[in-house]
Amino acid sequence: MALLNILQYPDPRLRTVARPIVEIDARIKTLARDMAETMYAAPGIGLAATQVNVHERLIVVDITEDHSDLRILINPERLEHSPQTKLVQEGCLSVPGMYDEIERPDWVRIRAINLDGQSIEFEAQGLLSVCVQHEMDHLDGRVFVDYLSRLKQSRIQQKLIKAQRQPTDSLEQPTRL
Ligand code: NI
Repeated sequence: MALLNILQYPDPRLRTVARPIVEIDARIKTLARDMAETMYAAPGIGLAATQVNVHERLIVVDITEDHSDLRILINPERLEHSPQTKLVQEGCLSVPGMYDEIERPDWVRIRAINLDGQSIEFEAQGLLSVCVQHEMDHLDGRVFVDYLSRLKQSRIQQKLIKAQRQPTDSLEQPTRL
């Protein structure tokens, strides 16, 4: 088990379109476990392989507080989505400290492959729906701030670039939500 380094926006590597996973080997299983550990430690409710600089179609999601519903989704696809949309406040481990409301379909039907190589399908609503759509966007090189106005995007970029330039204190890490 290992904690992985999370790329920070506007790192251009976050723009990489991930390729499908063809074989669920030991490397992929280790990656999935390390991603889950990294997500829980952050703490966060979702993480895409893109964010840890692995450009393969794998996301991990767990919206519960007690870490009881970990979903490891390989090659996830959106089969269906509701015509109704909802505005929900989002944040991202790659965009620390920044939150804004994003409009997305209220529910989605997802198909993916699990770590055992089985095809699974489920419907997601509410926070799970938001989270899965957000993470799947990462696999296509999209970050939630892309949905915001140009002005908001440049403000966020400036703030984060400034924060990333400041020398980090090895003893006191900033709290990341
Ligand atoms: Ni994110």
